[in-house]
Amino acid sequence: MQPSERQMRAQLAIFHDFIRTQAERGDPYSKVLAIPDDPYPHYDEIRARGRLYRSAIGSWVTADHKLANTILRDRRFGVRKANGEKLPEFMSFDNSMLGVDPPDHTRLRRIAAPTLNPRTADGWRSRIQEICDELIDGLLAEDKPFDLMTTFAQQLPVAVIADLVGIPERHRGAFYRISRRMTPLLEGVVTYEQTQSTQAAIREITELLVDVVAERKADPQDDMITRLLALVDEGSMSMAELVPMVTFVPLAGSETTVNLIGNGVLALLTHPEQWRLLVERPELAAGAAEETLRFDPSVQTYRRIAHERIEIAGWTLPVDAELAIMAGGANRDPQVFPDPNRFDITRTIGADTLAFSAGIHYCMGASLAKLEAEVAFATLATRMPELRRAGPVRRGDSFIIRGLREFPVAARRAF
Ligand code: HEM
Repeated sequence: MQPSERQMRAQLAIFHDFIRTQAERGDPYSKVLAIPDDPYPHYDEIRARGRLYRSAIGSWVTADHKLANTILRDRRFGVRKANGEKLPEFMSFDNSMLGVDPPDHTRLRRIAAPTLNPRTADGWRSRIQEICDELIDGLLAEDKPFDLMTTFAQQLPVAVIADLVGIPERHRGAFYRISRRMTPLLEGVVTYEQTQSTQAAIREITELLVDVVAERKADPQDDMITRLLALVDEGSMSMAELVPMVTFVPLAGSETTVNLIGNGVLALLTHPEQWRLLVERPELAAGAAEETLRFDPSVQTYRRIAHERIEIAGWTLPVDAELAIMAGGANRDPQVFPDPNRFDITRTIGADTLAFSAGIHYCMGASLAKLEAEVAFATLATRMPELRRAGPVRRGDSFIIRGLREFPVAARRAF
């Protein structure tokens, strides 16, 4: 049964008060949940408590790269309770790939694979370049300071995903608006209003996609919907699974990539010697994307559940123990990344960062997201070499997705 508005508001208020109190008492995980501007010193505190520590909130937490990597690849951990139940929570990916364990996960991942195949990601390069150039043409023509987030970073990933999924031109405006309203699902739904608004957005995107699916049936194209329709015909997936699968892609791939672009440009402009290096050598843009994913990843944390009693890192975890994997902290583990707080686009990143997770849930859009960031950074550096910050940034309010809401910049010194 759904909790009532009053119950939900009360539960949320108690939860937030509890976190605040625990943060004040010095619990480092609670400090991260309180969404500080800079969570990175708190990850060091988490690491100082041990490879795995039990937070005051109850979950076990790690910011140790090696241990996090081991847990993510260990099949005794999953994303649901041992009996297959979803966790009671306000945020939910329902039955998407991210929210289910094998064998359902294996089947859903196989279905999405032809569309999100890393080997085909490079085929997107010229289209991504075209979108970036169009956006930058518009900004240069306006010739005034602009907000990098709304005018550039938010535009590129949604345009790419609309192409990938197969959203016809006339539905794109609605698709962009609804996709943005769904983002609290990824960021962690924290208010009653967000629950209402995201539920309405899911209903609206479902209606829109039902329409597009009917159109694609009559007029097949080279896109995800057409490919999934073939699987429905063949009997390997049901029509009832098609729309949720397609809905999940903009959710997983938009806000994450938007903030990779925003966080990368912020790191570059805050380290002007790195920006100058990129302007001189735009071929370093792929390195800039990799280093941003290590230094300031847009997905900071994800969760695993113990499916059995497990002895690990000096603890005996009970069945259904919850673990918070702090990817943002693991990516700054000095045991793995020397001088981890230095942003260096020429760094040879020896180990995999955990920006895209590891193991069976490894991000299916990783190659595409890296390509978008690479092209975005190279194009900005080439076409706006004088780019600089032009005012204070405003951050989003999520401890899961780290990124900016506002990022004023100017392309010329004259402003
Ligand atoms: C910078 C951009 C991105 C970041 C940081 C990111 C991060 C992640 C992370 C951390 C996970 C796994 C979470 C976990 O293990 O619990 C994940 C899963 C996933 N991502 Fe991404 N992602 C990005 C972009 C994309 C894009 C562009 C797409 C698709 C177009 C995408 C599709 C997916 C899918 C389908 C999954 C589920 C995989 C599974 O459960 O097996 N992601 N992503």
